[in-house]
This record gives sequence, C-alpha cells and structure tokens, in this order.
Amino acid sequence: MSDGFSLSDALPGGNNPNPCAPPPQGWPSWGNYPPGPGGFPAHPGPPGTFPGGPGPYPGPPGPYPGPPGPYPGGPAGHGPYPGAPGAFPGAPAGPGPHPAPGHPPSCPGFRPPPPQSGPAPPLKVPFELPLQAGLAPRMLITITGSVNPNPTRFSLDFKKGNDIAFHFNPRFTEESKKVIVCNSMFHNNWGREERTAPRFPFEAGKPFKLQILCEADHFKVAVNDAHLLQYGFREKNLNQITRLCIAGDITLTSVMPTMI
Ligand code: GAL
Repeated sequence: MSDGFSLSDALPGGNNPNPCAPPPQGWPSWGNYPPGPGGFPAHPGPPGTFPGGPGPYPGPPGPYPGPPGPYPGGPAGHGPYPGAPGAFPGAPAGPGPHPAPGHPPSCPGFRPPPPQSGPAPPLKVPFELPLQAGLAPRMLITITGSVNPNPTRFSLDFKKGNDIAFHFNPRFTEESKKVIVCNSMFHNNWGREERTAPRFPFEAGKPFKLQILCEADHFKVAVNDAHLLQYGFREKNLNQITRLCIAGDITLTSVMPTMI
C-alpha cells in the first residue's frame, strides 16, 4: 500500500520556502525520499499542543519536562531520543524515556517523570493509551521499544469500543515467514487482511521506532524513519477511536502522541 508519497507530500503546508534547508528542527524526512521539501511541516503550536482546542495531549504541565526537543511534536528535553537526529535506531536508551506528555495519571503505565539519570523502566505490556478526544488528522503517535528475543508477534490496535479500527500486526514466525498483517475488526469479525508491506523492518532483540500518522483518509506507518505502509480508513469516525492498545513480544520504552 505504500504509494511512494512522503509525509510532506501528503500533508498540506509542506511548502517549505527553502527546500534545501534542513527540515524544521532536524526531523528526518518521512521515508526514503529526498530531503525536500520539508520533512515534517513546522509544528503549528507549542510542542505537543493539539490545535483546535483543549485536547488531551499534552495535559497540564506535568511529565513534559522541557523545551522543544529536536523533533516537531516530539519529546522535549529528556525524551526518548537523547542523541542528535539520526541517533535512532540503536541508540542506547537515554535519560528519561517517559510516557506521553499529558498522559493522565490514571492511565495504565503512567509513571511520574523519572529521575534525571538512568534509563526509565519499560512500560508494562499490554499497554493502553487513552486517546480522550479520539484520533484526528495530523495526529502522530511515536512508539519506541525493542523486539523481545524469539518473538512470535506484536500488535497495535486502535480501538473504537470493542471494534478495532486499525490492527497493525507484525508476525515473526508465520509459516516460517515474517509478515505484517493489517486489518480491522467490526462486531467481532475480522475483515480482509492487508499484507502488502514491502519489507519487514523489525528484528528480534533490536530497538525500533514506530510512527503512526493519522492522515485525512488513511494511516501512514513508518519504522525507523522510513515509510513502510499505509492503511485506508475502514472506520471513518476518527473521534470515536479512543484507545491504542499495544501487546505482544516487545519491550516498550515510550508512547508519545503529538500533533504535527
Ligand atoms: C487472526 C488473529 C488476530 C488478528 C487477525 C488479523 O488470525 O487471530 O489476532 O491478527 O488474524 O486478521
């Protein structure tokens, strides 16, 4: 389903007046594309602020520790990406990966900001991220973690009640082949599987950065800063997709929703 479009192609506002300039704040371009124009468009508001009103992220100043970080909409200060852009993947866990800014204290997996030294413990898997106002176009969810040794599978489920609007499911051992299965489940029935990912970017024991960008009519998925696939919306009521559930054979470092 990869269509060869970069994120900046797909989003309005990718009209960087100077396409030769580095992307704003050093964000690498989305996918294997030439660096212009723009990578991620400039962030429309303060880091992590959802335009259009008091969204759930970030909440009141809380775990969000500092000034804007190197990635628009991304972690600030002692976020999960301690190095310069490009440090991922394989960068050692830096000081203070933390759950989403504004992550409500009641949220499973929530913990207060870690001390300034030493890596934070992983988030508990299965992990659930409430998305109070649901999804919306331009919402970017960045997940970092590592694949466990001898993995079988892991999954992300964007849920509307019991329905699964988007199931993203890397399988490591299916008929001894690795495959990414995407699907939706409505009224307890799975739909037609999409197995069109052109590659399988996850490796046992290795760290990853997984980004899901909600666009106008599809999700875009990138792994380790390279576009992987897109998945057309089957559930179109985005604001009713109010939970992200993450499960399976991974160790989870951070889950970070932002607006770009
Ligand atoms: C099923 C599997 C589910 C889900 C689904 C996707 O076979 O049990 O967990 O991955 O496929 O189509």
